[in-house]
Amino acid sequence: RKVSLTGIKPTGEPHLGNLIGAIRPALQLADTYEAMYFIADYHALTTVRSADEMRHYSRSVAATWIAAGLDTDRITMYRQSDVPETFELAWVLSCVTGKGLMNRAHAYKAIRDRNAAAGIEDLDAGVNMGLYNYPILMAADILLMDTDVVPVGKDQSQHVEYAADIAKSFNALFGETFTLKVPELVLPAADAGKTLPGTDGRKMSKSYDNTIPLFAPSAQLKKIVRRIATDSTPVEEPKDPDSSSVFLILEQFAAPDVVADVRERLKAGGMGWGELKNILFETLDTQMAPLRERYEELMRPDSDLDERLAEGGVKARARAREVLSGVRAAVGVD
Ligand code: TYM
Repeated sequence: RKVSLTGIKPTGEPHLGNLIGAIRPALQLADTYEAMYFIADYHALTTVRSADEMRHYSRSVAATWIAAGLDTDRITMYRQSDVPETFELAWVLSCVTGKGLMNRAHAYKAIRDRNAAAGIEDLDAGVNMGLYNYPILMAADILLMDTDVVPVGKDQSQHVEYAADIAKSFNALFGETFTLKVPELVLPAADAGKTLPGTDGRKMSKSYDNTIPLFAPSAQLKKIVRRIATDSTPVEEPKDPDSSSVFLILEQFAAPDVVADVRERLKAGGMGWGELKNILFETLDTQMAPLRERYEELMRPDSDLDERLAEGGVKARARAREVLSGVRAAVGVD
């Protein structure tokens, strides 16, 4: 069977953007693909500086996957750090990858641009080598599992393209008797192209501190929804649904007839942001309530979460060893 693979970094509470951009599409693919979904803890280490946080958020991402419907009997869920073969492959891949490719990576370039804008002379200030090598580690995650498709949000598309490029470089140099599979990017089917906005209108992201956590308690969820930035158009005036973060989030969660109705009412005038926010809160709260309960059970220290992760790690490693032994033979270190 063909393989679908994706990862989420344990850098904070999983949020609505993760669900829309990655978790839901990935769970859909799991009906037809062999699915390998993992917690990218060593990717998170480029920024996380607390062992307790790393442990907490790793469990939190795993619990989120299960609460959202991942069945660990059918889908392999594991921690990246439980598959050390990844790091061996990452080294091999770094030896067939041009430095220029890393120089052009969006995340790295964004930091350099920010430094330039702030007048900081060393454009690499604040860049650790993990961040610089990030795309290679991600290519290793993907190529190690003989992956066919990678469901991710649009912000990760360059990384998946890099993984494909790196596989081709390896194959061109060493591909006589063994080749790495060239993976394909899969963007969320509805609104490929769209990225879920956060409470300040920018892309919802843990690094912007503008996320709506999936499993916030009702009262907190209500507060966060109230905080979403809106303009000052008065209640009675027409509003453009497609430039409203509140509407764009609602669009992903409410039933199509509700979305269509709200869209018309916004355009006609008469619906205020307050009312729209109430609808969004109710929609999210109702949808998340059963998942939240499951999530909380799993997060208890005595749940079987850690056991499930360990089992997933064993399965993932077995698969990884096969590909890695092909790679070792291809480069002559077998
Ligand atoms: P991460 O942890 O930043 O995000 C996890 C997934 O959620 C998607 N996502 C969004 N989608 C839509 N709208 C948003 N606002 C939004 N925010 C996040 C991301 O696109 C992603 O799919 N580098 C990856 C983790 C990773 C990985 C991999 C992914 C490591 N190795 C191998 C796939 C394959 C990351 O930082 O995702």
